[in-house]
Amino acid sequence: MRPLLARRAAAAVVLPFLLVLGRGAGADELPLVQVTKTATCGCCTLWVEHIEDAGFSVAVRDVSQEALADFKRRVGIAARHRSCHTARVGDYVIEGHVAAREIVRLLAERPDALGLVVPGMPLGSPGMDFGERRQRYATWLVTRDGDEQVFALHEE
Ligand code: CU
Ligand code: CU
Repeated sequence: MRPLLARRAAAAVVLPFLLVLGRGAGADELPLVQVTKTATCGCCTLWVEHIEDAGFSVAVRDVSQEALADFKRRVGIAARHRSCHTARVGDYVIEGHVAAREIVRLLAERPDALGLVVPGMPLGSPGMDFGERRQRYATWLVTRDGDEQVFALHEE
């Protein structure tokens, strides 16, 4: 494996120009994950790698901070639910560092909902897993009217 920094540098160069990246095992059954983020977001790139490692194909779109905020508003992510990147998969919105297995579960259970959010950037979530420190956090299922309920709990 190449060192992390080299991988991140390579990803920063390559991501804006590639639409469809890595196809791992199971990619045939898993829908495309379309990620909107800013070009300089390192934890976003690590989250994209986590999603690819789980077998999803990923399309990345780098936009300005303003365009990203605009996109979040347009797809219906409330201010209190916001994180760094915003993704679409099927009809769902995925906000922030949501675990790949939770997206797989969402797609299997198909609830009538806007999607999943992990507000902020909790330490220990996929792409935010640096070292030993972990926070307790929840992944929330957000309904179309903006209410939320716990979808998964992550202990420290
Ligand atoms: Cu992040
Ligand atoms: Cu991000």
